[in-house]
Amino acid sequence: MSPISPVRVWDVPTRLFHWLLFALVCFSWGSAEYGKMDLHRLSGSIVLGLVTFRLIWGFIGSNTARFGGFLRSPAGALAYLRSDSAGPRTPGHNPIGGYSVLAMLLLLMLQIGTGLFSVDIDGLESGPLSFLVSFDQGRTAAAIHSLSFTVLQIVVAIHILAVLFYLVVRKRNLVVPMITGTDRQIDDATGELVPAGWGRLLVAAAIALGLAWWTAKGFAV
Ligand code: HEM
Ligand code: HEM
Repeated sequence: MSPISPVRVWDVPTRLFHWLLFALVCFSWGSAEYGKMDLHRLSGSIVLGLVTFRLIWGFIGSNTARFGGFLRSPAGALAYLRSDSAGPRTPGHNPIGGYSVLAMLLLLMLQIGTGLFSVDIDGLESGPLSFLVSFDQGRTAAAIHSLSFTVLQIVVAIHILAVLFYLVVRKRNLVVPMITGTDRQIDDATGELVPAGWGRLLVAAAIALGLAWWTAKGFAV
């Protein structure tokens, strides 16, 4: 099969989302480790905005970012695993990658959700919605927040190992397309990027920014 090149695969919003998410999850981790909780709540609020954006983009965004485009039934994903997954290289997430995207987004939602209600042991550092729960419930939220971060670290480690597997074993570099948006190693360009319009981007970005800002302000009205 002769490679068709280059093929547009990821739009700018999806790429920006990914690398900002990477930076801010690292920053959230570091700020919590060093006890910089003001910065932690701020970066957590931005992660909330990013994940909100990605969830909306999964429904109204470009074709390769849409959940409907890459989330297969479990049977479909198993069939992909059993088939020769080293087959033709096509644009977008493969069925297994699709599930890992879903797992990371769900874990991030749990991370953010529990962070909003968390209270630390002396009750001094708390999430902006912790006034809605008792101290014990806030401590339970903090325990889940800590546990879900451990699970997130494991899933992200698997994510990075999978990207390395593709690079070393399949000789396919997935990182460059996530940076440049184009892929020079595609065999079958069916499903090439069809960017969504500016209007949709503005709606998704406005909702995400508004929610991140409101969270960072402690949901003040
Ligand atoms: C990707 C997003 C986030 C990550 C990776 C993250 C990570 C962490 C980690 C590693 C800790 C320390 C847990 C421990 O003490 O064992 C922590 C604590 C905490 N986080 Fe987050 N967090 C995130 C989002 C948020 C958000 C959105 C909020 C609220 C706006 C928040 C509020 C808190 C609070 C109040 C604590 C203190 C709880 C305690 O010390 O027991 N976090 N976070
Ligand atoms: C905190 C760390 C990270 C998180 C939470 C994360 C999360 C994600 C998510 C949610 C996606 C789906 C993108 C979308 O459709 O919106 C994705 C894709 C991707 N990520 Fe990451 N990521 C992380 C770190 C990294 C790192 C360090 C690399 C580079 C080695 C990387 C490389 C990629 C690539 C290449 C894809 C596209 C995979 C494909 O072609 O299907 N990620 N990541």
